[in-house]
Amino acid sequence: SKRLRMVLNFMRERLTDPIMQVLVQLGEVADHLNFNAFVVGGFVRDMFLYRDNEDIDVVVEGNGITFAKTFSRKYGTRTHTHQKFGTAVIIFPDGFKIDVASARMEYYQFPASLPVVEMSSIKMDMFRRDFTINTLAVQLNPNKFGRLIDFFSGQKDIKDKVLRVLHNLSFVEDPTRVFRALRFEQRFGFTIGKLTSSLIDNAVKMEFFKRLSGKRVYTELVLILKEENPAPTIMRLLDYDLLRVIHPRMKIEKDLKRLLDSAKKVVDWHDLLFIDETYERWTVYFMVLLRHCDLKTTHEICSHLTVAPRHAKMFTETRIGVGKQLMSLERRKRITHAEIFNLLKGFKTEVILYMMASTQSESAKKRISLYHTQLRNVTITITGKDLLAMGLKPGPLFSRTLQAVLDAKLNGQIKTREDEFTFIGKQLKDTDAKRPAGNRKPPGP
Ligand code: CTP
Repeated sequence: SKRLRMVLNFMRERLTDPIMQVLVQLGEVADHLNFNAFVVGGFVRDMFLYRDNEDIDVVVEGNGITFAKTFSRKYGTRTHTHQKFGTAVIIFPDGFKIDVASARMEYYQFPASLPVVEMSSIKMDMFRRDFTINTLAVQLNPNKFGRLIDFFSGQKDIKDKVLRVLHNLSFVEDPTRVFRALRFEQRFGFTIGKLTSSLIDNAVKMEFFKRLSGKRVYTELVLILKEENPAPTIMRLLDYDLLRVIHPRMKIEKDLKRLLDSAKKVVDWHDLLFIDETYERWTVYFMVLLRHCDLKTTHEICSHLTVAPRHAKMFTETRIGVGKQLMSLERRKRITHAEIFNLLKGFKTEVILYMMASTQSESAKKRISLYHTQLRNVTITITGKDLLAMGLKPGPLFSRTLQAVLDAKLNGQIKTREDEFTFIGKQLKDTDAKRPAGNRKPPGP
């Protein structure tokens, strides 16, 4: 039909050749097994939204594990299976992955009041999903390749830019969908449909979220913080009074919006300058979110959300501890480069960016950025070996001397390796001169 040709042309236009090719191959394997196969969900949604998405989710009417194994035998991929759910992952030699699920009646459980009898397997699979825009499917079998399946007006809702659940019990079934709704709302610039919005209000009022484990809340929260710009979504969570789900005493102040916007500016600045540096951007936002939480509350939050130890340390002691450094950087009228370096050395990029985001002082911001762009990379060439060669005995004087050389280099007093030696020579003479005769031991701290 004409419509099928249009979808086909659109797919050819939107998708890369290798993706197109693998979709064709999936369809051929499905036919061989007498299954129907579909590419579904976010992949199809994003194709229509002109957004790149290489997460291929395939649903087959039949046994998904058999399907994945057959595909792998034919194309030399690996298969990873979950018998319990009838799902599998096809893994290509280059690491590319395709998720496969079985659309089979026995996998679905719905509240008794929902009208699900008489649905085909694929329709049932779509019906259990979160929003209409995620219920599009494109068939892959060769003679129906490109047939668009749209049981719940997903295409219209994409066109109208609106998020709608499929039925009134959607948030009862899975309260995390509320977080997803707010995340998608901002990511796509969609609005939440009227009925869906009142169902969210109801979910909040009825405290559906009490049933969620901290772990699931954390997963959703991190997904939000990993979005391009999490700030508006966080503000929406605040509107719905949903930040309480993180902790009942979660301390939020009026400066949240400013802090989040400031964090965005800082991470964008960083990512532009240090394209190749990997760090966990979302943690900067999380620390900003925790800005006014005390140590005790933050510990409780980390334990409730089951935050990984390395993150928990950063969110609690480290985050709260930098208050001191920030204060110095904000208040001191004059400060040397060496002093800035010594205040900030050892902190991870995430913490440095958090500090930049959370100060309102322009001069403190400048000082931190100076550290991050220049000072942290300053090194000296002289080592302990050189000091030994100069006849110094190892001890506290050693590290103090090296520190003094580094400070001088940071402060621009010395530049070359030669300068470093001259500097040390002069230093030693000075300290020597200060010592009373007959007491030539190095001075104490
Ligand atoms: N889904 C759902 N309810 C959830 C989570 C997911 O119904 N709580 C469904 C959605 O319909 C979605 C599919 O499972 O299409 C896969 O979810 P996910 O892996 O989160 O993919 P995307 O919707 O593509 O989201 P993202 O773009 O953030 O990966």
